[in-house]
Amino acid sequence: MPSSHHPQNPGWYGPYGGRFVSETLIPALDELTEAIAGIGTSEAYKTELNALLTNYVGRPTPLTEAHRLAREIDPSKKTIGRLFFKREDLCHTGAHKINNAIGQVLLASKMGKTRIIAETGAGQHGVATATACALIGLPCEVYMGAEDVKRQAPNVGRMKLLGAKVIAVESGSKTLKDAMNEALRDWVTNVATTHYCIGSAAGPHPYPELVAKLQSIIGTEARAQLMERTGRLPDAAVACVGGGSNAIGMFRGFLAAASVKLYGVEAAGHGVATDKHAATLTAGRVGILHGSKSFVLCDEGGQIKEAHSISAGLDYPGVGPEHSWLKTSGRARYLSATDEEALAAASLVARTEGIIPALETSHPIAKLGEIASEVAKGIGRPATIVLCLSGRGDKDLETLLARCLGNEAN
Ligand SMILES: Cc1ncc(COP(=O)(O)O)c(C=O)c1O
Repeated sequence: MPSSHHPQNPGWYGPYGGRFVSETLIPALDELTEAIAGIGTSEAYKTELNALLTNYVGRPTPLTEAHRLAREIDPSKKTIGRLFFKREDLCHTGAHKINNAIGQVLLASKMGKTRIIAETGAGQHGVATATACALIGLPCEVYMGAEDVKRQAPNVGRMKLLGAKVIAVESGSKTLKDAMNEALRDWVTNVATTHYCIGSAAGPHPYPELVAKLQSIIGTEARAQLMERTGRLPDAAVACVGGGSNAIGMFRGFLAAASVKLYGVEAAGHGVATDKHAATLTAGRVGILHGSKSFVLCDEGGQIKEAHSISAGLDYPGVGPEHSWLKTSGRARYLSATDEEALAAASLVARTEGIIPALETSHPIAKLGEIASEVAKGIGRPATIVLCLSGRGDKDLETLLARCLGNEAN
């Protein structure tokens, strides 16, 4: 598996990553690292996981060519040759998060853990973890910022129906960062019995690598499907970046192929020049958050700033350490799209392709024109682009109706 993870220096991606946690958690992180190397590489685990991904999650997800959207963005056909969506929205529970949740909960059950906790922003990771726990038979508690509990109400209902306990977190900005703080606090107290199922390729070692491996199925499938459909690799792979799990999953399929340009798109909220955005790689600085060294949104004294995005899944002031390395090393480029650009993109995809994308995914869609121009200029011909459609917009329906249709909705 091609990776920018340093095999001689586990847990580090260039100068980013590591373990910046209390001593109490080190044995649990060591235990998890050992389980990944042992149980995680066993034929029994791999066979069971693959069967669940096929028969329960619905993998492989399709690769859909977005003909009408491509022509809408580039009627001249000069910059976009072909545009493909990797359809993670068609996974059971509606987003890529389920790949990671099933993999981790299965591993935890085989480690003898009797309780699962998770944090969630948009609720998709909470729903995915609650689903995996119901399937495998483990109790589940999900920490969610009180603000996100309000704006992602359908997912709160889903988690409860699936038997999970949802704990609304009232501290800080009442969003994902605060939920993760509380989950880490719970884990420190209950570490012997509990597995903390982190939802993105972030956190202390070994989480970024574990989540990236579990999500690399996205890129592996996309690469094979593109080879079959077009006979060659794409010119660019594109994904949204919150903590960065769907993006790193997609990128892992193409990291070793230098001809494939990698683009991550973050949330610019009201604009990166304002203090209301979540564009960590674009406008952040190197610091420590949730157990690893990476780009973060913080002030000069290192205090974490509040992030803002219309999309709850991107509203996070940190990012997984591998993305920081891909940015610094120049292997990937990171752009950002505003709330308004994402809303317009969601509406456009719905009307041209019959797909209502999650607000998270609408961010990279909004930047497709810019990305295609840049790539086409570099290669001297229209580009073939694959974009990870990380989730569906059902959870965002209220926002989409209010902001995209306005009075038309009535
Ligand atoms: C549909 C969807 N896409 C993307 C994300 C962002 O997370 P990540 O960057 O880890 O893929 C989320 C997070 O909740 C999500 O629900």
